[in-house]
Amino acid sequence: MKFGYFDDNNKEYVITTPKTPLPWINYLGCNDFFTLLSNTCGGYTFYKDAKLLRMTRYRYNDTTPDTNGKYFYIKDGDTIWNPGWQPTKTELDSYECRHGIGYSKFTGVKNNVEAALVTFVPADNPVELTKVTLTNKGDAKKDIQLFSYVEWCLWNADDDMKNYQRNLSIGEVEVVDSTIYHKTEYRERRNHYAVYSVNAKIDGFETSRDEFRGAYNGPDKPAAVIEGKLHNTIASGWYPIASHQLNVSLEAGESKTFVFALGYIENAEDDKWEKPGVINKKKADALLAKYQTTEDFDKAFDELCKYWDNLLSKFHIKSSDEHVNRMVNIWNQYQCMVTFNMSRSASYYETGIGRGMGFRDSCQDLLGFVHLIPDRARERIIDIASTQFQDGSAYHQYQPLTKKGNSDIGSGFNDDPLWLIAGTSAYIRETGDTSILKEMVPYDNDMSVATTLMEHLKRSFDYIVNHKGPHDLPLIGRADWNDCLNLNCFSEHPGESFQCFGPSEGPVAESVFIAGMFVKYGREYAALAKLLGDTAEEARVLAEVDKMIAAIEKDGWDGEWFVRAYDAYSHKVGSKECDEGQIYIEPQGMCVMAGVGVDNGNAEKALNSVKAKLDTKYGVMILQPAYTRYHLELGEITSYPPGYKENAGIFCHNNPWISIAETCIGRGDRAFEVYKKTCPSYIEDISEIHRTEPYVYSQMVAGADAKFHGEAKNSWLTGTAAWTFTNISQYILGIYPTLEGLSVNPCTPAAFGDFNVTRVYRGVTYNIEIKNPNKVQKGVASLTVDGVEVQGNVIPFDPSKKVVNVIATMK
Ligand code: BGC
Repeated sequence: MKFGYFDDNNKEYVITTPKTPLPWINYLGCNDFFTLLSNTCGGYTFYKDAKLLRMTRYRYNDTTPDTNGKYFYIKDGDTIWNPGWQPTKTELDSYECRHGIGYSKFTGVKNNVEAALVTFVPADNPVELTKVTLTNKGDAKKDIQLFSYVEWCLWNADDDMKNYQRNLSIGEVEVVDSTIYHKTEYRERRNHYAVYSVNAKIDGFETSRDEFRGAYNGPDKPAAVIEGKLHNTIASGWYPIASHQLNVSLEAGESKTFVFALGYIENAEDDKWEKPGVINKKKADALLAKYQTTEDFDKAFDELCKYWDNLLSKFHIKSSDEHVNRMVNIWNQYQCMVTFNMSRSASYYETGIGRGMGFRDSCQDLLGFVHLIPDRARERIIDIASTQFQDGSAYHQYQPLTKKGNSDIGSGFNDDPLWLIAGTSAYIRETGDTSILKEMVPYDNDMSVATTLMEHLKRSFDYIVNHKGPHDLPLIGRADWNDCLNLNCFSEHPGESFQCFGPSEGPVAESVFIAGMFVKYGREYAALAKLLGDTAEEARVLAEVDKMIAAIEKDGWDGEWFVRAYDAYSHKVGSKECDEGQIYIEPQGMCVMAGVGVDNGNAEKALNSVKAKLDTKYGVMILQPAYTRYHLELGEITSYPPGYKENAGIFCHNNPWISIAETCIGRGDRAFEVYKKTCPSYIEDISEIHRTEPYVYSQMVAGADAKFHGEAKNSWLTGTAAWTFTNISQYILGIYPTLEGLSVNPCTPAAFGDFNVTRVYRGVTYNIEIKNPNKVQKGVASLTVDGVEVQGNVIPFDPSKKVVNVIATMK
């Protein structure tokens, strides 16, 4: 069952009922100012950091789900309704929500009044703009009222929902004409405030929530709206809000348009006040002045659309598969931008007050983002590397505002260092910019001990060399990619963090997954050393990689698949010897992607085992058989009921690893089959089972052991976005950036047909036509570049050209 449809021409998903199985959200904002916005106008806004600079309040775990947002109420006689249905839930005569790329549109109609909202955040200013157009569709005059509504968060979202003994006394606002200024804590250490304004003379305002709603009402029954009159209260403590009242007369057929602006303003420390107690509004006024007319709004909206058209034009495919076209050209790249911006901080499943930027998460997000805005990727790499420790290990997370590592979780996740190599290598393969390797980058933000980024990569690599266990495999530490496989934790009491309880290091527990990573990213690091002319380092690294391959083959191979790990007692995890959890997906994907077992048939065996033991119609499960009880020695992974999350869920993130691994052994049919199973557009028809948004990936789909097999959770912020884009663009479609130039080596289903890709790479536009006359799954027989046949798969990079035409003919 579907709850909407894709409108590919407009790059929108059109939701045709507000009653989607779960809130289906969109993200507004590209740089610093962000809004999460659901299909019923729920959500919240923050500047840079969802925990520390939260502008509007959201309520988690609410009994009426998703009821705080930025709302518009329309009072038409006795009927009060919202264009996005929530929070009054008045039945609408028609409803539509269009989530687009960086914007959303809502159209609600009730009793012949149409309210159309367009809302977005311009690429270059910290403000959310909403155009509200009210139209009288009937043939009699209408006198209606429009009320806006936002509830301010007192900035620190964590403290905001805990510290009432303080917070109920600190709320402060100012109101001038049609602008409401939220200035809580500005009197002391904050140098920022928020504004909410409308480009018209208002008929009233409200800044006290209790006055607006009535003390015991929810947002569904706001007393002041029912009364039809705001009381112009200036809030003092309690719960500050912002609401405007506009009385609107509409002749038959007439429309009126209003532009609302919600902005964030920072003032210099010595320029905070206009006079004692009155905030300096110059910057706010200048910001608002930019968006005073409908034309200003439309122009900014056009600019945003152009900004996105340009970004999305960097990789564009035309094939006969509409799902691939749609996901590759629009939604997958869009999600990559969102995950790059948010890491795992703010979604409808991540509160924005828990995790900040993940070290490994952000490094992986780069893989799907780097082609869009390489300069931002460069800055991010330096930020991430700056949180590394001198021994090569790293803070597992850092806060986006301070860019400092979070010491409550600390370090000890032993895969983290290698992801820095992955992200940096992707950046250099994309851009050719080796200057980044010479940048001086601090450790733990301490510039006095800074070294070059290349030295950071060396320490990343050597961290693994220096932390091996009894089988010469890498020690796992608190966990590797699988945060829930905690082999050194042994937590017996509820409330203890699975990751942070117990020692950060154990001298025994080892990870075959990290071993696979070491091979893959060790080789990428060696290639960078070679590029810098350091052949001695290259040789040293490759020798270490060979040793690791030998260790995997000796103790990481179980006969039919790769072992997952060794626990603290040196017992195998993910082996046929185990009662539960006999086979795990991660080492099969990572080892084969690294090329381990490709020559001796083990890769094929491992992937056949994956198909036989882990596959379902909704995707490939992370492990089998599911753990049925809590295993002290394995940790959080066994805390989940069977079929959920890391305990035998379909963890979407590592499905592309399997698909890529299949391309490494040339099986395009199977690679694509795996791609399709979790691909949002392909599974749109089962939205009532899948339940999360059908235009983006979710972190997890419940596995075969779960009661709700096929149901997804944790949409949007998942490494699945970056890895799937890497998979489809670089491995299945086969346009892979190497250090020397773009290589063309597709691995598609035999019946996929010919296709064309436009790829902007290092400033050159490549028009690549791929022909598959003999319906093979892999292998390029000839490559012609501007009419000249070249040897091999790599298009020689020539910066003097602006456009290059390539024809690749498969075997
Ligand atoms: C985390 C990732 C981790 C994955 C698997 C996600 O929630 O953000 O860092 O790799 O779970 O445990």
